[in-house]
Amino acid sequence: PDPAEIRSRLIHWYDAHCRDLPWRRTRDPYAVLVSEIMLQQTRVDTALPYYLRFLQRFPSACHLAAAPEEEVLRLWQGLGYYRRARQLHQAARVLVERYGGRVPPDFEAVRSLPGVGDYTAGAVCSIAFDLPVPAVDGNAQRVLARLFGVDEPADRAAGRRRLDELARRLVQGPRPGALNQAVMELGSTVCTPRRPRCDRCPLAGLCVAGRSGQPEAWPVRQRA
Ligand code: ADE
Repeated sequence: PDPAEIRSRLIHWYDAHCRDLPWRRTRDPYAVLVSEIMLQQTRVDTALPYYLRFLQRFPSACHLAAAPEEEVLRLWQGLGYYRRARQLHQAARVLVERYGGRVPPDFEAVRSLPGVGDYTAGAVCSIAFDLPVPAVDGNAQRVLARLFGVDEPADRAAGRRRLDELARRLVQGPRPGALNQAVMELGSTVCTPRRPRCDRCPLAGLCVAGRSGQPEAWPVRQRA
């Protein structure tokens, strides 16, 4: 299928259907970083009030870096995975010491921050800076595996590499941040693990899994 057609359908769908969430109303790279760290292991509805409180108390990397760790942990209380809070705090200190308190518009620099992996670096750089880098979370893996009919298991190195490569190619176009978020959003609202709503999907007709009539057969699972 034509990548330009896929991109165009995804971005039109995203503009019409994306949920109105506070971290989508900003392109402040620090705010995007906070939101993506929180959303790594936490659902949107749960993370929302924490995100708002956190940004109110620590509106910039400088504010966060200056705070004592116990106060950061107190604001994180209830979100779980407290290591994320400590690493985000450390990341803010690195931003202040090395980058003048700003998130640098550079994938490798962002990737090297404490607690930031390929996914988070890709999300921050594409959403905040519109850099054409992939951001492949579990939802995106499922969408891509179905769309392209990837036959390697997504939980194996070969499958992950293949999915990353497909995502990397797909994001080479207009509005990389919107494109990445469209893929993730499609996975969380339409292209669900069970009973995907192919009738509502902007990629219907282009999707290998959808055309097969057995969309749940992807992503392929590792054989026991
Ligand atoms: N899951 C985590 N971050 C997301 C984002 N920016 N858009 C859609 N789903 C997400």
